[in-house]
Amino acid sequence: MRKLTYYIACSIDGFIGDPEGDATAMYAFVDEEFFGFLAAEYPETIPTPGRRQMKIDDLPNKRFDTVVQGRASYELALKEGITSPYAHLREYVASRTLGESPDPNVEIIADDLVGRVRALKAEDSGLDIYLCGGADLAGQLVDEIDELIIKTYPIVQGSGMPMFASGFSITEFTLESTRTFGNGALVRNYSRKR
Ligand SMILES: NC(=O)c1ccc[n+]([C@@H]2O[C@H](COP(=O)([O-])OP(=O)(O)OC[C@H]3O[C@@H](n4cnc5c(N)ncnc54)[C@H](OP(=O)(O)O)[C@@H]3O)[C@@H](O)[C@H]2O)c1
Repeated sequence: MRKLTYYIACSIDGFIGDPEGDATAMYAFVDEEFFGFLAAEYPETIPTPGRRQMKIDDLPNKRFDTVVQGRASYELALKEGITSPYAHLREYVASRTLGESPDPNVEIIADDLVGRVRALKAEDSGLDIYLCGGADLAGQLVDEIDELIIKTYPIVQGSGMPMFASGFSITEFTLESTRTFGNGALVRNYSRKR
C-alpha cells in the first residue's frame, strides 16, 4: 500500500489559514532557503504556475504522483483561471457540486470519498499520494492518513481554520524527522502508529 500524506502549512497554534482559510500570511516564510528545500525535497507540491515562474517545471516528481484536494482549495486556482494547478500530478478534486471536470487532468470525486482514496492507495506505484487539504477534506480522511508533513511557520494566530475539521478523537503519530530553518520555520515528518 502506498501512503496518503497530509502535507500542510500551519501556524504554531495549528491553523492552516485565517478563519476563512486564507493562508497568504504564511507565504512570507517561503524565503530562498525554504524554497530551496521545497524544490529539492518536494518539488511536486509547488503548483504548476509557481514551478514555471521559478523555472523548475522540469524537476521530476520525488515523493508524490497523485494529489487529492477539496473543492474549496481547488477553487483558489479556478478563480485565477487555472484548471490544473498540479499538472505534473494526477489530480483528484472532491466535490458534489462541480459536476463535470473543467480539465482533462482533473478527476472529480463526487461520492465514496474514502473508498476512492483507498483504491488510490492500493495502486501499484513507487510514489505516494499528496493530500493537499483543506480542513474539511483532511477531517474526513483522517483515518486514511499514513503520514503527516507539517510545515510550521513562526506565527501565532489565535484562531483560524484548523488542520482537521473533525470531531474529537486521538490518533498517535511517531516523529520521524525534524528540520529547522533560519527564519524560524520547522518541518516535521510523522508516520502513523498502526
Ligand atoms: N495552509 C495550507 O497549506 C493549506 C493547504 C490547502 C488548503 N488550505 C486552505 O484551506 C481552505 C479550504 O479548506 P476547506 O476546509 O474550506 O475546504 P476543502 O476541504 O478544500 O474543500 C471542501 C469541499 O470539498 C468537497 N467535499 C468534501 N467532502 C466531500 C465528500 N465526502 N465527497 C465529495 N466532495 C466532498 C465539498 O465540495 P462541494 O461543496 O463542491 O461539494 C466541500 O465543500 C482554503 O481557503 C485554503 O487556503 C490551506
